[in-house]
Order: sequence, then structure tokens, then C-alpha cells
Amino acid sequence: MATRPIVIAPDPVLKQMCEPVETIDADVRACLDDMLETMYAAPGIGLSAPQIADSRRLIVCDVAREGEDAQPYRMVNPEIVWRSDEIVAAEEGCLSIPDQYAEVERHREIRVEYLDPDGKECELAAQGLLSACIQHEIDHLDGVLFIDYLTPLKRNMILRKMKKLKRSQK
Ligand code: NI
Repeated sequence: MATRPIVIAPDPVLKQMCEPVETIDADVRACLDDMLETMYAAPGIGLSAPQIADSRRLIVCDVAREGEDAQPYRMVNPEIVWRSDEIVAAEEGCLSIPDQYAEVERHREIRVEYLDPDGKECELAAQGLLSACIQHEIDHLDGVLFIDYLTPLKRNMILRKMKKLKRSQK
């Protein structure tokens, strides 16, 4: 396993529609492992493939609190098959938008179908933080960032900060 560099917004790779994975091979499994390691090192609670410049429909997450056992999820081609009508707002951040947080509305509960690294079909009912995290990560696979839910004024303010941050890192 290895950590990979995290792409910082704005970047075209973060705005692309990701492609479904046709075959789960060693490369896909290695990518998922690297994504988890990158996420833990950051540290963060979720990561999507485009954030490491890979345009395949892969996400990982682990919302376990400090001191709790790790609960890693590796999801291939995740798809939300049910959403609760109830909406909740909570503060979100993103490893591709460092140090910026804003309240985002999400469905309180979802059911998600995905393939695990062995190609097994899985279904997960998620609520609370895990639900919001999975919705956020699946958004990434469709080129959507949490700042896309904010007003243009707020979004542009954050993007200007990110451009400045990237200039300072060069
Ligand atoms: Ni994110």
C-alpha cells in the first residue's frame, strides 16, 4: 500500500464523470487500498478515486471515531438505490478543498449498492455521518463537489482561496 497525492480543487479531474469498473482486478484492489491509506494519512473519513486523479467509480470511507475499531468500506461502482425524504444539514469538508467547511443538506438515510473488492454484490443501509459521507463521495464520481451546493459567491470565494493555496505550493 502507498499514499497518493490528493488533487486540490479546482482541477478538471474533479469535474469529470467517472467510468464504471468493468473488472475488479489486482489493480482495482490496490487502488482501493491506496485510497484508504491516503485517506487515513490525511486524515479524512472518505475519499473518491478522482481525488487521486483516477476516473474510475471507486470510493472508500471510514467514519469510526478515534478509539473505535476501524470500519473501512471499499466500494466499487456504488449506487444509491433509495433515499429518505428526510433531509438533514451538517457541516462538511473535503480533502480536495483543505480547511474549508460549510453546511450541506443531505438525505438522512440512504441504501447503497456496490461491489466489494472480491466482486461480491453488497447493499448497505446508512444513516447519519456515514450516509452523508457516502453521498459526498458518490457526488465526486459525478464531478460534484460540496461547494457546488453553496451560493456562487461563497463557492467562488473558496475557489479563489484554493487557487492561491496551489500557487503557494508550487
Ligand atoms: Ni470530498
